[in-house]
Amino acid sequence: MTACEEKGGDAGKGLKNARGAAVESGSADRDGSRRLTALWAGLGAVAGLGAALGGYALLYEPFDVRAERLAVRLLRDKAGLPKEGLNILHLSDTHFRGADRREHAKIAQVRRATEGEKIDVLIHTGDFLHKDSGLDNVLALIDSIPKPRLGAFAVSGNHDHVFYNLRRAPLYSWRLFRARASEQGAGSGARSAAETAEDGMAGLRDLLLFGRFLFQNRFDGEPAGANDIGRLRRELEARGMQFLDNRSVRLGETGVYLVGIEDLMEGRPDLPKGLEGVPKDAPTVLLSHNPDIIEAAAAGRADLILAGHTHGGQIVLPLIGPTYTQTEQLSRSEASGYSRRGRTQVYVHRGLGESVPIRFGAPPHVTFIRLLPARSHSDGDGVARNGNRG
Ligand SMILES: [Fe+2]
Repeated sequence: MTACEEKGGDAGKGLKNARGAAVESGSADRDGSRRLTALWAGLGAVAGLGAALGGYALLYEPFDVRAERLAVRLLRDKAGLPKEGLNILHLSDTHFRGADRREHAKIAQVRRATEGEKIDVLIHTGDFLHKDSGLDNVLALIDSIPKPRLGAFAVSGNHDHVFYNLRRAPLYSWRLFRARASEQGAGSGARSAAETAEDGMAGLRDLLLFGRFLFQNRFDGEPAGANDIGRLRRELEARGMQFLDNRSVRLGETGVYLVGIEDLMEGRPDLPKGLEGVPKDAPTVLLSHNPDIIEAAAAGRADLILAGHTHGGQIVLPLIGPTYTQTEQLSRSEASGYSRRGRTQVYVHRGLGESVPIRFGAPPHVTFIRLLPARSHSDGDGVARNGNRG
């Protein structure tokens, strides 16, 4: 091989290498561009899915009012219930605030769901109002339902007493958490500043405990003003609805007693007073806005507890379940629907309305409950069927 050839050869090789480098560089550019396109496509898909889910949770599910049916058989053999049972229509947590388009749509769906139904007893377990401005729509809702044969009964919810500032919820919840920790004398919530400074992990532990506090029980807005509960009661009573505030009533010609309890957060609950005058052997239905009444000693006298307040968690996520249940005594799986403690059966309503106007996996509903006498030698679950879409 000559020097020239060698040179030429080297030059050729150099040219080839240069071309190769150019080819590789072009290929790398194309790969980079493909990766960028794929990244944008991925981001677009995630954003599209997020927008679709957000749209569903904001614009569809809150308006998808279901009709659920449930038959509950007493677990104690008590006289007083008609053999064919009693038909109860259970409503809860309407949270009306005067958002007419939204609330009129819900009223129209409730009217359709209840049309032609034979209702013995209408029950509303509170949070009629989110704000006083919702009163006209609450009255329109009650007017839209067929008249119940034995009467309409209610208890008030925390929102009927008070409206809350949700923007201050994180700070308010933090103060509740600290107060709770101090009361219990447990956890680093009660630690002094000096102790906290000594322990570098205390801040992190506080945050974790606070996260658990929020997840397990409360994320509360700060009370910001009073709703006119007196006016709400007067207007509903004028339509024949009775408020059971720590008192009971016997249902018509039956031997069934309804007992109502004031709200656990904003009222003055007194269950022993509510149960005064209720015979021990009478079938007893307890109405409480807040299902945490289940832990009261006297609650075991109730055959059935009807409650609301939890909104079914309002956002139910895969693997996590209901996210925001507001109950301290019930597990997440008990935050809506049927459960029982001993021979006391519990039904927690998910509500018709929302405080924050969003729902996912916890659609609003009305529930038709057929309350039946115990089977002789009854054992096992008192619930006969549940969850029919109507
Ligand atoms: Fe509520």
